[in-house]
Order: sequence, then structure tokens, then C-alpha cells
Amino acid sequence: MTTRPSRVALSVLVVGLSIAMALARSAPAAQSKDGPKPVTFTADIAPLLAGKCQPCHFKGGKVFDKLPFDQYKTVAKIASRLHTRLKGADLDLVNRWIEQGTPE
Ligand code: HEC
Repeated sequence: MTTRPSRVALSVLVVGLSIAMALARSAPAAQSKDGPKPVTFTADIAPLLAGKCQPCHFKGGKVFDKLPFDQYKTVAKIASRLHTRLKGADLDLVNRWIEQGTPE
């Protein structure tokens, strides 16, 4: 009668596999470029706006006094309205930033 030890071995294997699969599922998601990679104002949004919204929203521009896009507070406040001027990957980036609570 050797069924007992092999059943235990099988259970251990199943549990081990489940843990391995759970780990495999969570690890790449945390690192994937399309996954929930943190989007921050400093690293992502500021450079995007600096590249696309010159010169008006930057120093010397006509709406710099009213809507300076080099300032986190200003951009975070109007974040949900950025979509009126952005599309494609830029829009996706801004949407992810908003989903994450517009971190600085
Ligand atoms: C040619 C100049 C110019 C450029 C370039 C420009 N803007 Fe503006 N933007 C303005 C002006 C003028 C206003 C109006 C400000 C006011 O309400 O008096 C404005 C207002 C806004 C507003 C607030 C009003 C609203 O629609 O909710 C947002 C948001 C905005 N711009 C986003 C952007 C983004 C994002 C970019 C770059 C992709 C950009 N703008 C590029 C001139 C510009």
C-alpha cells in the first residue's frame, strides 16, 4: 500500500504549482510596460506637455499665467480636461495618470 505517500506528494505538487502560477501571473504584471506601471507628473506628464503644449502653457506663453503646465498643482487640477487636446498614446498616458490619482 503505497498510495498514501504518493497522494501526499501529488497534493504538494498541486499546491506548489498553484503558488508558482500565482507568482508567475503577478510578477510580469508589475513590470510590464502596458501594465500598471506608475505614471507620475514629473517623469511622464510634464515631459509630454513640455513637448506638445509649447509655447502657450510655458514661460513666455500666452496662457502661462493662467495655466502653467510646468506646475504639478495646475495640471493635476485640470487633469480631466487634458483629453480635449490629446489623443492616442498621449491620451492613454494621461488617463492612466488620472486612474492612479494624478501622483506627482
Ligand atoms: C497655441 C497656444 C496653445 C497651445 C499650443 C496649447 N494651448 Fe491649451 N490653452 C490655450 C488657451 C489660449 C487656453 C484658454 C485659457 C482660458 O481659459 O482663457 C487654453 C486652455 C487650455 C485648457 C483649459 C480649458 C479647457 O479646455 O478645459 C486645457 C486643459 C488646455 N489648454 C490643454 C492644453 C494641452 C494639453 C495642450 C498641449 C497638448 C495645449 N493646451 C496647448 C492655448 C494653447
